[in-house]
Amino acid sequence: MRLNSPRMNVIYNACMKASKSMIRDFGEIEKLQVSAKGPGDFVTNADKRAEKIIIEELLKAHPDYGILGEESGAINQNNKTNRWIIDPIDGTMNFLKGVPHFAISIGYEENGEIVCGLVFDPIKNELFVAEKGNGAFLNNSRIRVTNKKNLIDAYLGTGGPKFNSPYKQKIHDEYIKVSNLVSAPIRKFGCASLDLAYVACGRFDGSWQWELSYWDIAASIVVIKEAGGYIDFLDHNPKELIKKNIIATNSNIHKELQDNLLKKIIE
Ligand code: IPD
Ligand code: CA
Ligand code: CA
Repeated sequence: MRLNSPRMNVIYNACMKASKSMIRDFGEIEKLQVSAKGPGDFVTNADKRAEKIIIEELLKAHPDYGILGEESGAINQNNKTNRWIIDPIDGTMNFLKGVPHFAISIGYEENGEIVCGLVFDPIKNELFVAEKGNGAFLNNSRIRVTNKKNLIDAYLGTGGPKFNSPYKQKIHDEYIKVSNLVSAPIRKFGCASLDLAYVACGRFDGSWQWELSYWDIAASIVVIKEAGGYIDFLDHNPKELIKKNIIATNSNIHKELQDNLLKKIIE
């Protein structure tokens, strides 16, 4: 890991500890796929186990810091200054199906702004990290977004909509519209934090998605920004702190992509 501020170290150690248990659990999935019960409960427990390990490590370092974790909700809610945002397994469906594309995502927020974060793909052993003002890295190499200038040449990632989304049709319509504006097929890899990390390191030129949760993207926000990219919230309701609709790009294609997305999800 290139960045080694005390906070980055805390996040890194928590992540590495959780990833060991996650890799072990992922190894069990194949066997469970063919068992009568299936892997559903096992995956729920793997998620909880990973988050518990992460939280224990974070609290050991800073017992008073706030935490927002997908599985555990809010801890130390009174601390509005320092907060960790955790998604223990982003890409649960992939994990459940034995598809090796998921990540641990941990961000650190100070006074409402994400200032450092990490997204770790334990199967490919790819660690995306960034700290405000210090650049973004993939393992030990500095990363930057691409400089593609036109939407037609852009390689894009997205995800959703959720099965029970009230906006399903609109999101599908939008997908068709954008698909017709780019020459390469849009990808849906099923792990929002990695979609954004892929924009940061130049594998994707952009990514957008409606109806995400803060823990899906918190860490990636700083990774994108430090890689020279641009991240914005679509149709953002400032009162809604958890739900996020995002667009993240290399910044060159930002306006062109944004102009072609839904302006508002709710009319
Ligand atoms: C999901 C993934 C997926 C995105 C979903 C998220 P989870 O998170 O990030 O890519 O499309 O909206 O909920 O449930 O796997 O942690
Ligand atoms: Ca997630
Ligand atoms: Ca998750």
